Amino acid sequence: MMNASEKCRWGILGAARVNERLLPAIVEAPNSQLVAIASRRPGAAAETLEKYAPQVQGVQTYDDMDALLDDAAVDAVYLPMANEEHAEWALKAIRKGKHVLIEKPMALTVAEIETIEAAASEHRVKVMEGFMYRFHPQHARLREIIDSGLIGEIRSVRASYSFMMRPARMYRLAREFDQGGGAMWDIGPYAIHSLRMAFGTEPAAVTAMARFVETGADITTSGILDFGDGRFGHFDISFERARRSEYEITGTLGGVKCHAAWQLPGDVPVLSWWTESGRQCEERLPPANHFNLEIEHFSDCVLTGKTPLLTLTDAKANCRAIVATLQSTTLGKTVPIDNG
Ligand SMILES: NC(=O)c1ccc[n+]([C@@H]2O[C@H](COP(=O)([O-])OP(=O)(O)OC[C@H]3O[C@@H](n4cnc5c(N)ncnc54)[C@H](OP(=O)(O)O)[C@@H]3O)[C@@H](O)[C@H]2O)c1
Repeated sequence: MMNASEKCRWGILGAARVNERLLPAIVEAPNSQLVAIASRRPGAAAETLEKYAPQVQGVQTYDDMDALLDDAAVDAVYLPMANEEHAEWALKAIRKGKHVLIEKPMALTVAEIETIEAAASEHRVKVMEGFMYRFHPQHARLREIIDSGLIGEIRSVRASYSFMMRPARMYRLAREFDQGGGAMWDIGPYAIHSLRMAFGTEPAAVTAMARFVETGADITTSGILDFGDGRFGHFDISFERARRSEYEITGTLGGVKCHAAWQLPGDVPVLSWWTESGRQCEERLPPANHFNLEIEHFSDCVLTGKTPLLTLTDAKANCRAIVATLQSTTLGKTVPIDNG
């Protein structure tokens, strides 16, 4: 544990596009400092820095990932590499004594997350899956609405996440799904996570259907997770339809909807709720940057020893549900989910 008055010193492992959001967040978070960035492509780390934070001085750029992990000035690593590389590089970072914020999905198998968990415990470092959306205050407000009893008991949750994938980004579908390609590993983790968060329990089974492209990656997947006692979580994700980024909860007395769950800059946080007794309301919340809040939170955990909001138990449960969903799409039947 460090002194809470210090800053958490971050290194970024990978010149990925998502740095557009996370790199400025690390620079802006008051308890954080960007000290290094690495890429395997010569010059790409320096280019990324120049592109997203040209004003920041004193950041070491590496054309070698291991050099960043050997840098004693780095306390925590942000890991935005390709999905199938997360587990391998998270383990390398942990074994060098670095705390790691791993982009979603943390790994492609539960076994890999268990290995990450054991290594993090051995090396006494913090690890968290990068579900930035969870740090937006709108979800806490939505929970308040539910806890007030306004919509009664939660019976159904529906999550939709879709957009038209630009041709330049179609390389995400270049690998089959068990190699980390496709929509389910890309945007599916958010949809599944929001269903689990809303119910606050784990699904016992899943039934799903997908449209696959010729590489074996799913481009559209839709399904139902069974949370027991007639409580179903519906999800619908796609790279080939207009933008949706929402989840909606229906209870015994009414419903509540989060209209911009996986927000882009400029999205207005809006919640709306209604009751069978005829009440309805639209709440516009103040804007918040969930990337900045995520970085601040993880830095705080590193600095003060606090447990991250998103646990490894949560990461394993999400992974288990995704793996079962993909199995269901190929087997064409309901797949039970063993939550142990
Ligand atoms: N939280 C969020 O809002 C959010 C948003 C988008 C993505 N993500 C997640 O973040 C991770 C990265 O996604 P991304 O879309 O940003 O990935 P990306 O741009 O495809 O980059 C992934 C990796 O590929 C390499 N790479 C990047 N551009 C390349 C190029 N032109 N040629 C060859 N290699 C290249 C980089 O490694 P090197 O630098 O070593 O070459 C990088 O680490 C994924 O796990 C994704 O699920 C999260």
